[in-house]
Amino acid sequence: MTLINSTAKNALKIELKPDSPLMNREFIFGAATAAFQIEGAWDRDGRVPCIWDTFCAEPGRVANGDNGHEACDSYTRWEEDLALVQELGLDAYRFSIAWPRVITDIHGTVNQKAIDHYRKQLNFLNERGIKPFVTLYHWDLPQYLQDRGGWLNRETAYAFAHYADVVSRAFGDQIVSYATLNEPWCSAFLSYLHGIHAPGVQDRKQAYQAAHHLLLAHGLAEPKIRANAPLADVGIVLNISPSDPQQETLADRNACVLADLENRDFFLQPLLEGSYPEPVLNRHPTCSPMVLPGDLELISAELDFIGLNYYTRNRVVAADNEAGYEALVYAGDDATAMGWEIYPEGLTRTLQHLASLPRCPALYVTENGMAADDDLRGGAVDDEIRVAYFQSHLQAAEAAIAAGVDLRGYFAWSLLDNFEWAEGYNKRFGIVYVDYATQQRTPKASARALGELMTQRRQLE
Ligand code: NOJ
Repeated sequence: MTLINSTAKNALKIELKPDSPLMNREFIFGAATAAFQIEGAWDRDGRVPCIWDTFCAEPGRVANGDNGHEACDSYTRWEEDLALVQELGLDAYRFSIAWPRVITDIHGTVNQKAIDHYRKQLNFLNERGIKPFVTLYHWDLPQYLQDRGGWLNRETAYAFAHYADVVSRAFGDQIVSYATLNEPWCSAFLSYLHGIHAPGVQDRKQAYQAAHHLLLAHGLAEPKIRANAPLADVGIVLNISPSDPQQETLADRNACVLADLENRDFFLQPLLEGSYPEPVLNRHPTCSPMVLPGDLELISAELDFIGLNYYTRNRVVAADNEAGYEALVYAGDDATAMGWEIYPEGLTRTLQHLASLPRCPALYVTENGMAADDDLRGGAVDDEIRVAYFQSHLQAAEAAIAAGVDLRGYFAWSLLDNFEWAEGYNKRFGIVYVDYATQQRTPKASARALGELMTQRRQLE
């Protein structure tokens, strides 16, 4: 398992100039994971079911009928996995805490075993000078909350605030960075409009309401975390893909405006300006979420950071449907195994767009990476394409900094191959290969390239 003994030939390097702002030790390099995707141990030590356990059990929802029962078994193998982060010389590790482990019933009961488990991980990281970046909600809503309406029920936002209070009371500043939510667009739109994530609903009005309650959850949790962890940063992680017209026609350009308003500004505008975009509400007058007085003030409280998860761009075409636009499936041959276009310029553009907004806080790239058809051959995985992906996207991040963006860090998605939601285990995003039959970890060429970049950076000091 160790990097030093790995037989992978180092086909490609990631090369950044010594005077690159990314080579400065202040810039944070890390790798990211999420609890449901790696932990397994779905019923161990008092963990209760979450909406993804339920969704996986419904036939036809997840490729191959895969589920999170075992995943990468990281709940047990966490020490081996964190040792990989250390061996790579990364500054930080972004992971999520599992809500269904920590709070096990509707009364808010705290599971001490879960607290002890995450304390061990946090101690391990802090003792080695690796900064823990923690996400509180990475999609594993406890099923007992879903049974009462999930994100459609306002009470879920208060339950989240209680959970955030418990976690931040337990760990305080041991966690250097708290992200309340990961990609609320997915929890609202993929889950309630497109129906491809748990709980698999297709209803625009429900999607908007879920979005508001997710943002409210963020707004209610933030002051609790600040009170319990005064030195920690508090922020939120958003997925944003720029929209580009399929053809340079007025209709397709207008479709891009609609797409960005609904998918990007529906989250950014309440966070930064305290309002929902009028054109979206006007276009769908029966779908406006129920917003109570004071909600938007909570939601728009000052953020320490926004985390950007960036993977690709969207090609958008005008459509005669409810939304007025459609995102096309990419047809080029330079797509990733997810079928996503490789488009590094979109990272620069998105960072610049964010930085141009009023009240935009510091930025992090909290996820960036690609799925590839990785082959384990002779004990090695030569994922040259992923090395090239990192190279081009790190240069895109550099370009954003050169243009004045306050970008503080970059996290590769993901440390490990893992459960890729509706796609199951078939899509591999890791810099470390996981053989699910044996749970053996094999660092890929991309892990070695990132590790060597970290070594070079240290040598510059
Ligand atoms: C974003 C999500 O946060 C993560 O869970 C997922 O695996 C990656 N995108 C890749 O799709």
